[in-house]
Amino acid sequence: MKKFNFDQIIQRENTSSVKWELTKEVFGTSDVLPMWVADMDFEPPIEVKEAIQERVNHGIYGYSFTTDSTAESIKQWLEKKHNWSIDTDWMLYNHGVVPSIAAAIEAFTSPGDKVMLQSPVYAPFFGMISQNNRELVNSPLKLINNRFEIDFNDFEDKLKEGVKLFLLCNPHNPGGRVWSKEELHKMGELCYQYNCLILSDEIHSDLVFGPHKHIPIAALDDKFSDIVITCVAPTKTFNLAGLQASAVITANKKLRRAFEEVQHKQGYSRLPTFGSIGMEAAYQFGEDWLDELLTYVHENVQTAKSFIQEHVPTIKVMEPEGTYLLWLDCRELGLDDQEIKERLLYKGKLALEPGTKYGTGGEGFVRMNIACPREILLDGLERLKKAFA
Ligand SMILES: Cc1ncc(COP(=O)(O)O)c(C=O)c1O
Repeated sequence: MKKFNFDQIIQRENTSSVKWELTKEVFGTSDVLPMWVADMDFEPPIEVKEAIQERVNHGIYGYSFTTDSTAESIKQWLEKKHNWSIDTDWMLYNHGVVPSIAAAIEAFTSPGDKVMLQSPVYAPFFGMISQNNRELVNSPLKLINNRFEIDFNDFEDKLKEGVKLFLLCNPHNPGGRVWSKEELHKMGELCYQYNCLILSDEIHSDLVFGPHKHIPIAALDDKFSDIVITCVAPTKTFNLAGLQASAVITANKKLRRAFEEVQHKQGYSRLPTFGSIGMEAAYQFGEDWLDELLTYVHENVQTAKSFIQEHVPTIKVMEPEGTYLLWLDCRELGLDDQEIKERLLYKGKLALEPGTKYGTGGEGFVRMNIACPREILLDGLERLKKAFA
């Protein structure tokens, strides 16, 4: 029996929601259905609200620290969900994963050093490398049978050029790949061989559809734990992005100290009060909610796939193994990226992320966020159909 009502539509206007209220600034029009920014239109597990409410009721919001019980909730979650046994001493905190990527680049590389990514990939990866004056090295993913794969020859060639840090996105945004044990092992071995550290962004790791299974790369091999820094967060999993809470984990003490030093240099001190509280409550009580959410989102994937196959068959849907993001191949429409964007915005009145944001390999694609009640999804799909009718 269902315990949670993901069909419920909750108005998000007037909550300073980036997704719902910044479309005018970002797309030039507010008359659109927003299916872009990666947050969900669902209420998080009720225990999160209750825990925050209890703290709100106290009324004094002075400096606070993240308690041992929060650390323990993260440790237990990783052990239970991902079979990864960590020591709470391996953990540092940060407001977000993107700030951690920036801090890792500063801590482990110097200006001019090579930092690698695999495009198409989450846009801030590019910005964090170039804005920190590092040299961006791209080992683009290969698109084979509508699925992303790693070009290991190219991956190794790039590492040979002396890459210092590799930004891994696992599960992969925007392609929804959940990298397999073999793929992770091969990437890890090559990075180890060529002395390259790995920043593994695992923010989507809880959002995986069976039979696929997320594997933290740091847990795969003892020697990887020495070269990997992993970012995890409850923010995508439980829809808590505004609370700003994430953890950075590495067994390597030297890397931890270097990371911490950068955080101190930047004036970082602690997580926001409600971030720690929300994170702990989510990891402690959110498991049933997450199980049901995944079923619902997977039904959304299937709904979207069959709708698109039936009504806009020239668009190909990449089957996501994880995440709540659909990567849509629009290349057969015969339109350029500007035309795709204009059709979506002005004919369909639908705001999707343009594929070009994700670098090489994103041309002719768009990304659709389907973490919303079915009624909103169907509205979005009708708009997609209208855009390309
Ligand atoms: C791969 C990836 N990393 C990081 C983030 C954002 O992380 P944060 O909000 O914690 O900075 C996102 C958000 O969409 C993401 O997809």
